Amino acid sequence: MTVFHACLAARRAVTTALAAGATALAAFVAPGIGAAQAQSHPAVSPASAVAAPVATPLSDAAALGKLIFNDPSLSASGRMSCASCHSAAHAYGPPNGLAAQFGGPDLRTQGTRAVPTLGYVLNRTPVWTHVQAASVFERLTDADSPPAGGFTWDGRFNSLHDQALFPLFSANEMANRDPADVAAKLARAPYAGRFKQVFGETIFASKDAALRQAMMAVERYELEEPSFHPYTSKFDAYLDGKAELTASEMRGKRLFDDPNSGNCASCHIDQVGANGAHPLFTDFQFEALGVPRNPALRANRDPNYYDEGLCGPVRTDKASNKTYCGLFKTPTLRNAATRQVFFHNGRFHTLRDALRFYVERDTAPQKWYSKDARGHVVKFDDLPAAVRDNVDTVDEPLTRKAGGKPAWNARDIDDVIAFLKTLDDGYQPRPSVAGVMKVSAPARRP
Ligand code: HEC
Ligand code: HEC
Repeated sequence: MTVFHACLAARRAVTTALAAGATALAAFVAPGIGAAQAQSHPAVSPASAVAAPVATPLSDAAALGKLIFNDPSLSASGRMSCASCHSAAHAYGPPNGLAAQFGGPDLRTQGTRAVPTLGYVLNRTPVWTHVQAASVFERLTDADSPPAGGFTWDGRFNSLHDQALFPLFSANEMANRDPADVAAKLARAPYAGRFKQVFGETIFASKDAALRQAMMAVERYELEEPSFHPYTSKFDAYLDGKAELTASEMRGKRLFDDPNSGNCASCHIDQVGANGAHPLFTDFQFEALGVPRNPALRANRDPNYYDEGLCGPVRTDKASNKTYCGLFKTPTLRNAATRQVFFHNGRFHTLRDALRFYVERDTAPQKWYSKDARGHVVKFDDLPAAVRDNVDTVDEPLTRKAGGKPAWNARDIDDVIAFLKTLDDGYQPRPSVAGVMKVSAPARRP
């Protein structure tokens, strides 16, 4: 049953509650960062046209975290760091168009999911929550709300330091054997001396303590480093009254917002928050969109393998709740136009195809899905038949019938792409718009 996405009003209400949760999380994970700084974009100085990141030096722990984030010696291959997949030059997303990256001891083991961007979401992702309806009546009256929050596509980590452990030991990523393995590598790293200065001379005496502090340092880096959330897009400048959208960008925004058209903004929120925070283009909620199966993933050679997101197999604690099967976290769309791979399984490689999928999923399913032995199109073919009902068919533009009119035509898609490109960081206002204002280059430190 599509109980989670029955009503937009419910979605909005929950989003407000989530904003409060995000504040609590930011306070928890970022004791050194003022809540205001963690929550809203950096202050705009009168001299700069675009909100350039304020250059506060990284704390000692964060500076160490940066070295760890970029250190390939912490992998079994000796050639893979966090930055290999989360590339600073690609908005901390993948540096290539691979559906999933290759890791492991010889860098030949393919992962099962596309690399998400780390931009913008790290200090704003609320902890995973799902307040379920208490009764069937509540469910029918839309009091139920979708699950939301947590890190990764299935929300299985509530803190960045816990999340960071996963790639270190994952067989298709950095593939270390155990904590002792990583602690030994840290003790041999060129920054081992600094590590002792910051965390104590005896830190390497306990492998668990060393690993824990290393992960806390990575978390500090992810939260403090301004280039994770620079707010230097044209859209940010537009929100600050410092840039104008072109007719095409503006038309794209209207199509993106319109509840009877794209309806994109109901999940990819583009409104300024009550506290003035610029929008992140996600509500952090989980939805099943029924993205087609991706034959480029090696895991999919097994016809019985399905990545069902929230209900497993990567996440294990919610496997018994079948209403969770197929649900993935809504990603931010900031810098999405720079990506070469889209959705959790990396099925699409251009923004245009990703958008065409949304508006033609139901009107022309034969374009997207495989056929069974009898030649019938298998809609939602990347989920087991028993849970295909979880896929959203109630939110526009996902409500149409085969042969019907898609919500957008080719020109509409062009305009929405033009709008989404305004979310790319590093916007340089043209002199005619910026007038005499000076623009500082956006910080893009590695
Ligand atoms: C081999 C590629 C690869 C490497 C190396 C890698 N990651 Fe990731 N990262 C991913 C993928 C894929 C996901 C999504 C995982 C999932 O949904 O299960 C992800 C997800 C994340 C997320 C969650 C983002 C969100 O919005 O939910 C964070 C944070 C993160 N990685 C940080 C790190 C850190 C820190 C390191 C180094 C210790 C690292 N990653 C190393 C591929 C990688
Ligand atoms: C009901 C909520 C919802 C609506 C409405 C919605 N999205 Fe999404 N969006 C999601 C979720 C959830 C995902 C991830 C799904 C997955 O990977 O399985 C996603 C993923 C995407 C991605 C891929 C981003 C990436 O980094 O891989 C793009 C692009 C996107 N949406 C654009 C749009 C556009 C444009 C619209 C309007 C036509 C729209 N979305 C409407 C929830 C929604």
